[in-house]
Amino acid sequence: MARRKMIYEGKAKILYEGPEPGTIVQYFKDDATAFNNQKKATLEGKGVLNNRISEFIMIGLMRAGIPTHFIRRLNMREQLVRQVEIIPLEVICRNVAAGSLCTRLGIEEGTALPRSIIEYCYKKDELGDPLVTEDHITAFNWASPQDLDDIIALTVRINDFLTGMFAAVGIQLVDFKLEFGRLYEGDMMRIVLADEISPDSCRLWDIETQEKMDKDRFRRDLGNVTEAYTEVARRLGVIKESG
Ligand code: C5P
Repeated sequence: MARRKMIYEGKAKILYEGPEPGTIVQYFKDDATAFNNQKKATLEGKGVLNNRISEFIMIGLMRAGIPTHFIRRLNMREQLVRQVEIIPLEVICRNVAAGSLCTRLGIEEGTALPRSIIEYCYKKDELGDPLVTEDHITAFNWASPQDLDDIIALTVRINDFLTGMFAAVGIQLVDFKLEFGRLYEGDMMRIVLADEISPDSCRLWDIETQEKMDKDRFRRDLGNVTEAYTEVARRLGVIKESG
């Protein structure tokens, strides 16, 4: 097959020009990075698992009426998505205290939050993706007030959907990161969910054992990273039961 033109290479994904105008091929690599690229490794099979898990979640969200960039999975490592104008924000939604929230506010990991909390980081590798406020976002015009309202409404709906979906298979959704884009169709523009949702971008704990089933296994050298991702995929029914 003729190699397509590469548009962008990220830490865990490569984007290629799609077969039709307005489409992009999203390729999932096995590379894992943490702490703003200071820690790197290749985890064999991670890309295949994330492609399947993200596909499953995007299809579920679309059935629940959430607009996304997803069109279809092409093969083991690639999916076809709509080209969107990415909003330069990482939108983080938290249900339980973990990660940078604990470090920043001195809250013990695992503490249930009084309500779900949404945070925003400005996507800028050179700056280490700093935390920003809604005022920064609208003042610097990264998103309009209307865009931001849409992003918040979608994030709340996605959190409800994902929390229930994971709870049904014995997994607690601790927190997750979303990215959104502007999809232009004629004169119309709407905000859609972009990027991926996978154990790379979520914290997932086994409800019974509290065992971590996400990228924290890599960040904290807990081992069995792909085994944990495989278990998430198995529970969601994305891959067949293995012996
Ligand atoms: O590190 P922190 O606690 O802020 O991360 C919150 C959530 O966002 C975690 O689920 C983490 O995996 C995700 N995240 C991400 N990409 C980043 C930063 C955080 O997927 N660059």
